[in-house]
Amino acid sequence: MNGTPPLAWDEGLECWVVADPRLARQVLNHPGFTSGTFERSFQLYMTEAARTEYRELTAFLRLWFVQADAPEHTALRRPVQRVMSASYVRSLAPRVEEITDACLDALAATAPHDVVPAVADGISGRVMAHVVGVAEPPEVLHRWARTLSLFIGAMYRRDYAETAHRTMVEMTEALSRATAPKAFPQETPEDRARTTATWAMNLFGGLETTSSLLASTVMDVLGEPAVWDAVREQRPGAAEAFVERVLQRRPPLRHLGRVVAYDQEVAGERMREGDLVLVSLTGEGLLEDGGAIEDGGAPAAACPVTGAAAGAGSSDGASEQHLVFGFGPHYCVGAPLARLEAAVLLRRFAARFPDARLADEAAVWGPNLSYVGLDHLYVDLGV
Ligand code: HEM
Repeated sequence: MNGTPPLAWDEGLECWVVADPRLARQVLNHPGFTSGTFERSFQLYMTEAARTEYRELTAFLRLWFVQADAPEHTALRRPVQRVMSASYVRSLAPRVEEITDACLDALAATAPHDVVPAVADGISGRVMAHVVGVAEPPEVLHRWARTLSLFIGAMYRRDYAETAHRTMVEMTEALSRATAPKAFPQETPEDRARTTATWAMNLFGGLETTSSLLASTVMDVLGEPAVWDAVREQRPGAAEAFVERVLQRRPPLRHLGRVVAYDQEVAGERMREGDLVLVSLTGEGLLEDGGAIEDGGAPAAACPVTGAAAGAGSSDGASEQHLVFGFGPHYCVGAPLARLEAAVLLRRFAARFPDARLADEAAVWGPNLSYVGLDHLYVDLGV
């Protein structure tokens, strides 16, 4: 923990920032903080004219159940959780291995060898296409995810609203043909809108976040010879244990939003109904501007979230349960799938390219301050 106070008002962003992990858990699991941040952000950051022009987009995002609270949230989440059960995720392992091998073929076939498009986007995109049952290739799915996350992160930008609106139209079209939504309510127009929103959210949830984890996993393992040896020797559990360390060291999501449900005093501060709250998942406050701007300098480029260099073992020891997948009722439904994808990638990558190394100037970080990930990761495959 740095010198950041546990709870502070950020003048620039006009919202509360919760930096302390214990307070973060309380906020994420307390009815005094609601999840409807999109609605509040539409009011705060979009002009009335933009809200009118993009009302279909705002209506679509409002239906994502990550924005709902109990009891509505509980009822909407349950069927998705059933689909994403532990046994279902285990059953996906052979398909994930097949997809991973195909993406490693693609990595070998392109030069320079950039892990992000070929492998990180490739695997996360193809796995999510399989889970949801859409035919679109990873590039299209990731374009959708990026345009939506840009809009979610800066709703005052009309250009982002425009591209997010186009994405919504394309996603809705694709999801009307998809297989997974067919088992969800379709009787009325409201049912269909809700089902589309639910699967759009699930698809979105499994793309940028997971791609970030996959790329960070490859970058970090190539910086840690002892772990790389253990993974190359296929030691049981080595891949899974390393993925946990990467998750803690380089959380793909930096913070979650919440809205204060009623006036209350927390940690000595007076919070007012309707205030926005950013809950840090990293145990730190907000980044300084520019901290996450691309850094093509060194192979071991510092992570914009934690400042950790590639290979720096900041979380080796036992640590309390991390917040990377959230906490409480909205805990990530895709966590087992993301972990599976990363562990499979580590094993297959080590088996296929045992002499791989990071290239010079390997890491280029993306500019998005909410979803932190690499834009490029160049490797020398040693073959
Ligand atoms: C490393 C990869 C991932 C990370 C870091 C991550 C992170 C998170 C976090 C922090 C939340 C909590 C949101 C909140 O409380 O407001 C969340 C929720 C969610 N995630 Fe993930 N996620 C990842 C992968 C996935 C995957 C693969 C899927 C889909 C298969 C997915 C689908 C979802 C969904 C649907 C929710 C909403 C849950 C709810 O509101 O009840 N995520 N994720």
